[in-house]
Amino acid sequence: MLVLPSCSRRLGGDRDTVSEARIACIMPTETLTGPWSPESWQTRRLAQIPRYHDRERLHDVLARLGRLPPLVTSWEVEALRERIAAAQQGRVFVLQGGDCAETFDDCTSENLVQKLKILLQMSVVIIAGLKRPVVRLGRMAGQYAKPRSDDAETRDGISLPSYRGDLVNRSAFTGPDREPDPELMLRGYERAALTLNFVRSLIDGGFADLHHPENWDLAFVSHSPMADRYHELVQRVSDGLDFFESITGTKIHEARRVDFFTSHEGLNLYYEQAQTRFLKHRGAWYNLTTHCPWIGARTAATDGAHVEYFRGIANPVGVKIGPAVTADELRELIRVLNPENVPGRLALIHRLGTERIDGKLQEFIEIVRAEKATVLWMCDPMHGNTEVLQSGIKTRRFDRILKELEDAFRIHREQGTYLGGVHLELTGEHVTECLGGARGLAEADLHQAYRSQVDPRLNYEQAMEVAMRIADRGGRAA
Ligand code: PEP
Ligand code: CO
Repeated sequence: MLVLPSCSRRLGGDRDTVSEARIACIMPTETLTGPWSPESWQTRRLAQIPRYHDRERLHDVLARLGRLPPLVTSWEVEALRERIAAAQQGRVFVLQGGDCAETFDDCTSENLVQKLKILLQMSVVIIAGLKRPVVRLGRMAGQYAKPRSDDAETRDGISLPSYRGDLVNRSAFTGPDREPDPELMLRGYERAALTLNFVRSLIDGGFADLHHPENWDLAFVSHSPMADRYHELVQRVSDGLDFFESITGTKIHEARRVDFFTSHEGLNLYYEQAQTRFLKHRGAWYNLTTHCPWIGARTAATDGAHVEYFRGIANPVGVKIGPAVTADELRELIRVLNPENVPGRLALIHRLGTERIDGKLQEFIEIVRAEKATVLWMCDPMHGNTEVLQSGIKTRRFDRILKELEDAFRIHREQGTYLGGVHLELTGEHVTECLGGARGLAEADLHQAYRSQVDPRLNYEQAMEVAMRIADRGGRAA
């Protein structure tokens, strides 16, 4: 069991909990100084944290958030940790995906069903190809805050705070809309709860039963150039299940309830801290807004607030590592975030870009090997391949995304490590945000259905094509 430092009063914490926490307090590593608490991050260097001017309202909202029931349970979080530990050993593959940013308006049944469908469809293709269980990790039920390059946005000589996602402020370009509003954290928590409630009901109600993949057919599957291949793969999984069940005379229980977990970038630490609880029966602190929060590339500084917060929670956590991460930084991240080398605790999500992956990834692997660290290697082929066209449109080229993914598989294979997951920005809709893919989307096509307010996502067909490429790794992947 991971025992984490927890030496000072938590927001809304009761005395019993606090004294138990004190007893459980150990420092995870000598490289860290000072005690940890859910709010100790506030003493560190802050990056991408909203400036709430009305402190009284902020504290009132945090106290209210802290009293609300958790969105996930530690049992689920621990179950995910076990799955990630299995993925670290090459026995499971993790499919993490969803929108770059969720918005409150997107919280509709249609949207959520579409998102679930695409992740389920992709996973069945990957299961058929890799012949391994797939854990689905939605970028959902909390992906409401975004890092920004600039604190301010200027239009026609007027400067206002940048829009940082629905959890923080509103996108309309007016002073009141751009002012960070603590109440939005409550609205975000509610949307996350509604999302989880619906997703859980669908999964428990049999929607995700692997025996009935026809539930997940999206309207345009039949018109897609990939339809035949998809149906052939689905049939293969279905036949495999039937065959196993008929020779053993038992139903495969696990296949009825697929693994589905949630994740989001733990960016607005006020929100994260308010739902961070010390669980006596586990002797550890958990972030109960999500199963697996991750640290974004812009907030991964080892002396920064985000790493400070993340070191103290027991959830499995991800950290994005980009081309600018140095050997010392990676070493420090591993030591601070997983000092006890707990299996299933740490996922390193490399997002290097097609130009940089060859060379940089080998360096990262070497460091992890020298540290004897147990990590889950995941590839995010999206964020190192974003470009802005002359027209000002932000896009990604599908062939570059595929190339980075292929290179990641190849390099891990050459190095004797296992690429245990992918991290993708995608949607189940037929948007036109990334160039290329089966229909060869060109620059002139992008305007047809470009809906993202933030990063360009793979559309349905592009996402399925990625899944098929992963499936094609088959026996070659490990
Ligand atoms: C993201 O995942 O949306 C993101 C901002 O990624 P990164 O932190 O890797 O840039
Ligand atoms: Co993004």
